[in-house]
Amino acid sequence: MRKVLVTGSAGFIGFHLARLLLEQGFDVVGYDAITDYYDVNLKRRRHAMLHQSPRFRAIEARLEDFAQLHSLFADERPDVVVHLAAQAGVRYSLENPRSYLESNLVGTFNVMECAREFAVGHLLMASTSSVYGANTEMPYSEHHKTDHPLTFYAATKKANEAMGHSYAHLWNLPTTMFRFFTVYGPWGRPDMALFKFVKGILEGTPIDIYNNGEMFRDFTYVADLVKGIRLLIDAVPVRPEDPAAIPAWDTLSPAAPWRVVNIGNSDKVRLADFVDAIEAECGRPAIRNYMEIQKGDVPATWADATQLFELTGYKPTTDIREGVRHFVTWYRDYFNV
Ligand SMILES: NC(=O)c1ccc[n+]([C@@H]2O[C@H](COP(=O)([O-])OP(=O)(O)OC[C@H]3O[C@@H](n4cnc5c(N)ncnc54)[C@H](O)[C@@H]3O)[C@@H](O)[C@H]2O)c1
Repeated sequence: MRKVLVTGSAGFIGFHLARLLLEQGFDVVGYDAITDYYDVNLKRRRHAMLHQSPRFRAIEARLEDFAQLHSLFADERPDVVVHLAAQAGVRYSLENPRSYLESNLVGTFNVMECAREFAVGHLLMASTSSVYGANTEMPYSEHHKTDHPLTFYAATKKANEAMGHSYAHLWNLPTTMFRFFTVYGPWGRPDMALFKFVKGILEGTPIDIYNNGEMFRDFTYVADLVKGIRLLIDAVPVRPEDPAAIPAWDTLSPAAPWRVVNIGNSDKVRLADFVDAIEAECGRPAIRNYMEIQKGDVPATWADATQLFELTGYKPTTDIREGVRHFVTWYRDYFNV
């Protein structure tokens, strides 16, 4: 399995994953529409860095453009597909739900259709911890029900998990779904808290802290996350011959080569403590604008990452202080501040 198609290769996680795969000698084909959900220069800079490797090439197109996606699969015949392109973001899904419908449902369907037709060896697709929605039992285990999404974003990702299961079953297409937990790190997304907080602190403008700082997140450092993805590429699910023999920790479907895996740090950090760590790294205090919890937000996320460890022997370890330090160093360098 030497050629990997990464959708969303100009995105935050796609860029880090592509870089890791290139370092490890894979051929990487990128696919990204460079959407204007946030600063396209950041996306172009990420792609430009990947293009420094002769083993990287990329197409700029939308997932909804089936002809374009299909011809890329026909030309490249990837062994593995890691599908990360999506309309991301919890809050924006209240403003523009249609973009989630188009990118996440139509787009993901097109990826699955091509993966089926070209008999990809392993399809891995991004879901989110947001699918745990209104659940209160913590840490969140993949064995818990996820029937109560609180945002349309989460609903599209939950649908992706079910869509993936049907194709895995019908076409024997090995499929792994990931649930990511608040990923952060250098080259991060401008719509996410860390980016906004560092910007506000360095510019001396107020930062909005939701639920008066009584929010908890299982922050996952991006290098840890992509290491987990890389290891899961090799953990190809196989349709079980004896469903009764599936270990208790495993979410392998009894009916299909399909499983869903949390990738999180298994540590929940209080938002107020997160801000303290950022202030310490920036060397300046934040102007804190405490606010109510936002519509659709959940007060806490916390991953049970047992299954990731059982499958790969790997556990994310980067401590929040260290991760924040790497981000602030990158931010200062990137923006020259
Ligand atoms: N960052 C997180 O904390 C987090 C948490 C949970 C899940 N996820 C999921 O992980 C994946 C990657 O997230 P990210 O943080 O790198 O986001 P990102 O927005 O930085 O990357 C997504 C990329 O997909 C591209 N894209 C969007 N719609 C497209 C379309 N219709 N056709 C082609 N390209 C399109 C965008 O241009 C972007 O470069 C997404 O599926 C997201 O939902 C992320």
